[in-house]
Amino acid sequence: MARKIVKSRFFFEEDYVEGMAEVPQEAQEAWGPDAKLSVVGQPTPRIDGYDKVSGTAVYTYDKLLPRMVIGKILRCPYPNARIKSIDVSAARKLDGVLDILTYENTPKIEWHGTSYLFDPHLRFEGDEVAAVAAETEQIAADALRLIKVEYEELPFVVDATEAIKSDAPKVYESGNIRGGKPSTYSRGDVEKGFAQADAVVEDTFSTQVEIHNPTEVHGSVANWDGNKLTVWDSTQGVFTVRNGVANALNIPASHVRVIKEYMGGGFGSKLTTGKYTVMAALLARNIGRPVKLVVDRRAMNLATGNRPDAVMTVKLGATKDGTLTAMSHTGYGAMGAFPTGTGTSTPLRTMFKCPNVYTEESDVYINAGQGRPFRAPGRPQGHFSLDSTMDELAEKLGMDPLQLRIKNFTDIDQMSGEPYTSNRLLDAYKQGAAAIGWDRRQQPAGSGQGTVKRGIGMATQIWGGGGGPPAYAYMKLNRDGSARVIAGTQDLGTGTYTFMAQIAAEVLEIPMENIEVILGDTGVAPYCGSSGGSTTAPSVSPAVRDAAEQMKAKLLSGAAAIMEVPESQLIYSKGTVTDRNDKSNALSIPDIVRRMREQVLVTTGAREQNPRGYAINSFGAQFAEVAVNTLTGQVTVQKIVAAHDIGRVLNPTTLNNQMHGGMIQGIGYALMEERVIDRNTGKVVTTDLENYKLPTIMDLPEMEVIIVSDGDPLISNTGVKGVGEPATIPTAAAIANAVYNALGVRIHRLPITPDKVLQALYG
Ligand code: MOS
Repeated sequence: MARKIVKSRFFFEEDYVEGMAEVPQEAQEAWGPDAKLSVVGQPTPRIDGYDKVSGTAVYTYDKLLPRMVIGKILRCPYPNARIKSIDVSAARKLDGVLDILTYENTPKIEWHGTSYLFDPHLRFEGDEVAAVAAETEQIAADALRLIKVEYEELPFVVDATEAIKSDAPKVYESGNIRGGKPSTYSRGDVEKGFAQADAVVEDTFSTQVEIHNPTEVHGSVANWDGNKLTVWDSTQGVFTVRNGVANALNIPASHVRVIKEYMGGGFGSKLTTGKYTVMAALLARNIGRPVKLVVDRRAMNLATGNRPDAVMTVKLGATKDGTLTAMSHTGYGAMGAFPTGTGTSTPLRTMFKCPNVYTEESDVYINAGQGRPFRAPGRPQGHFSLDSTMDELAEKLGMDPLQLRIKNFTDIDQMSGEPYTSNRLLDAYKQGAAAIGWDRRQQPAGSGQGTVKRGIGMATQIWGGGGGPPAYAYMKLNRDGSARVIAGTQDLGTGTYTFMAQIAAEVLEIPMENIEVILGDTGVAPYCGSSGGSTTAPSVSPAVRDAAEQMKAKLLSGAAAIMEVPESQLIYSKGTVTDRNDKSNALSIPDIVRRMREQVLVTTGAREQNPRGYAINSFGAQFAEVAVNTLTGQVTVQKIVAAHDIGRVLNPTTLNNQMHGGMIQGIGYALMEERVIDRNTGKVVTTDLENYKLPTIMDLPEMEVIIVSDGDPLISNTGVKGVGEPATIPTAAAIANAVYNALGVRIHRLPITPDKVLQALYG
């Protein structure tokens, strides 16, 4: 299965062209399933672990610069309002206040394509009204209270189902549906397909708005040096923020350096440039001092993104033997006050084999904070509606729900017609079912006895895997034998630092301790994409391997010249080059670098193109066991088995962390997390972690992770598909199906809180 990989030379950022001459046209054989690896794939502690547990790791929040001051944002208290007047004179007079930005004194900077950085029309509670810079946090907070704003309150709508009605208040004059009409997809003839079916089921499901709530809040520190700006930002994409800030300020991207070292999560909420970042830069430029502007937990829950809610109607048709003949999905979701995507139908279009499919979806404006990508945008919603309806279809057909899914397995991408590079979903079904004890589920559903009823359910996931170019890595090899790997990627807390070191250690056969990793700095590192879509490891790991393989080639050719023997006569092992014919003739890395008369050897590795003619996806299934107290309505998740095909595992330790985190996030989504807006006032009532319920250690089940895949040599030289999103996609849907199996009644809206359980049982 080995294949030679042709390098891409596209996409390279103009200010990072140096080093390209060193990228050769051909690279390494891919690490397939048979690759003999000794560091990659071994459980490996995080190389940044000590920094984190000892408190020496500096997060954006911790950043301190000489003469630094504090920025704070005044936010609109109403869901829809216009500023009639704003008076900052009292605030300006306060001792220690350095600058105040409002729409009246700030250049119009376009935002979201529909408004401005500071806009006198405020379209949601939490929309930005003013930004203050002051000597201390307390003075900044006092200054915000002294700003006098007179608002004209406007009619508002905070619910998508209300917003699509013709008499609803309009968030924009053009109407509340983005683009004025739904987006549609179809293949085959869906009406004909339903006519061919022996059984048809149709049902409607809805989901709540979920807030990312990463541990570390959003924020930036901005510092100008002449006309050059440095920003420390808690971001999933340092190059994205560099370009976003440069565009907003209308300065060259090469004048902006963005740095992100340690980070406490993002889940998609930190993929774009924040208003707070641009405001910090503007304040810092005006006053000539560094400004730290960090949002608080309340602002995070109002204004830094969310998983849009969804209302989804799914219809499925199948013949007696369970073969799907037609599928449709119609739905809508709330974007918030600014445009974003809310689509949830991709699972239905791609998960199962089906020739006749129709989907129709609308993105709806409401007066609330804007949605953002959230760990598998649209997918937990989509699989909740799809996998719930699949279970209903199985029941109608008198079929085992797992058998129904196996029956409709496909190894061809249903949208493009291309084969997958690999698809081990059937193994995931089999091993996951064995691990949960699938035969123990209630048959029929709800037939268990007693006050506490148990149930088992499962659900599926498909996610676009494999990453891709452009992604680059430098390697520097010092005379003392130590190495540095440098890439413009990010470690959100997921383990990027560690896998980069593992790959370098694997290829050069030197200890992990000799390798230092630098990332998250546009000023020193070559381009990598944002860390989103589960693409970091599949995009960056091949570039790191390429840089290390080129370094090994450099050492071998250097040694051949020094030893005056042909390269083919040399053996590379554990950082030493040996003459095959004279084992006493050997050179270590320090010997070679010194005798090449070099101080540092440098290479640049690149992520190769993905193969043509294939679809690359990850696949998986999760199985949940629950206990439902029929007197209190409380659902307790007892066990989740996650069985996935995610290509190669680089580090089982951080892989398990990712999988556990995904399952825990899925439990929160299934059972407790929900942004609640009061309909009378249009205000969010869940703006802190007391009222926005996240799972705690007390809510956690036994979790079992089964990875059924190896390196996929068709994808890249490391064969990684990616795991961030797959980990959480099926969890809520599996729990919902388990609750049905326990009770014999279905709950159609997440989260499955006790009131809904009691309503379903006795309502
Ligand atoms: Mo994500 S939603 O790819 O951080």
